[in-house]
Amino acid sequence: MNYTHAFEQIIEQQLARIEKIKKSSEPVDYGKLEKIVIGIIGGDGIGPVITEQAGRVLKEILSEEVSAGKVEFRRIDGCTIENRAASGKAIPDDVLEEIKKCNVLLKGPTTTPRKGDKWANVESANVAMRKELDLFANVRPVKVPELGIDWTFFRENTECLYAMGSQGINVTDDLAVDFRIITTPGTERIARLAYEYAKKNGKKRVTIVTKANVVKATDGKFLDICKAVAAEYPEIETDDWYIDIMTAKLLDEKRRKQFEVMILPNLYGDILTDEAAELQGGVGTAGSANLGTRYAMFEAIHGSAPRMVEEGRAAYADPSSVIRAGAMLLSHIGYQSYADKLFDAIEQCTMKDGKHVITGRPDGATGAELADSILEKVRG
Ligand code: IPM
Ligand code: MG
Repeated sequence: MNYTHAFEQIIEQQLARIEKIKKSSEPVDYGKLEKIVIGIIGGDGIGPVITEQAGRVLKEILSEEVSAGKVEFRRIDGCTIENRAASGKAIPDDVLEEIKKCNVLLKGPTTTPRKGDKWANVESANVAMRKELDLFANVRPVKVPELGIDWTFFRENTECLYAMGSQGINVTDDLAVDFRIITTPGTERIARLAYEYAKKNGKKRVTIVTKANVVKATDGKFLDICKAVAAEYPEIETDDWYIDIMTAKLLDEKRRKQFEVMILPNLYGDILTDEAAELQGGVGTAGSANLGTRYAMFEAIHGSAPRMVEEGRAAYADPSSVIRAGAMLLSHIGYQSYADKLFDAIEQCTMKDGKHVITGRPDGATGAELADSILEKVRG
């Protein structure tokens, strides 16, 4: 292999991507669309089971809009690990085509093959979808009112180690190299979204998280660009932390209440949001929005839990993550009052002393039971 050439190709690819970002369109105004098409992708493992519950909840909430032809639901099959491995593609072409015909998507977890397991080592469907649809912002809210926690993470979703995660080079048996990408427009757009969110929602503080003391070029750029955007929002306090101490401070009961909005490069955001979700009751409770200007995709932040399916426990999997993602979807497409109602119902139904406590096992409630009780609350 000619490594200089491989490196040249990577640089060209990324420079072209930067030009594309610069030319991105304005965000879709859903109010102006004749019809909003919502695609539902089941995914793998427990995915189809929990996504079915979330789909059922959304369909009931939007039933009038569906009857009026303002909203259409489409089921998108085929984004399974079996199909992906067979086609050797992160997302099979026909599935991607269907996805691109939708405006927004609700997606169940999809299995990401690991080096050495039984599946062909295709790229993660999540990562591919984020890149394909240019879903640059991964917005992950975590709330634990009784602990005074109300955080919103803005995780950059297309760059960092994820941009070229499948294109690293094994130079020799002894040397492997991966590439970490941070771009100016890529950082600017996530920072701006975070500050705009803070401004609109009365948040007083935005925290930038990097490891710029060590990773000087890429994290240095991320920090500089975020600070330049911060300067346009003098009414909002900005601070910056390194990812290691930030990870510790999320566990510091006094300090953590002060954090509100966080901006992070992709990988740090991946890790820190799992830690944060654990404080909320586990990754099974957290939903997330993947936002671009043309498309948006809403999903759980956890994996497909194949072991639960193998052990016959899929019906007991917690659907609250995808139902929360569904509430975020409602809010994103302009149905804020439905979203508020649904968030409220989820919060009430998932309280530890609630009627339907999910344990992931037959001693707990099924996902369908939880969805039923959420719908009951929504109906009022
Ligand atoms: C997430 C997941 C994905 C990621 C995996 C499944 C590729 O952990 O959405 O946080 O790393 O982004
Ligand atoms: Mg993750």
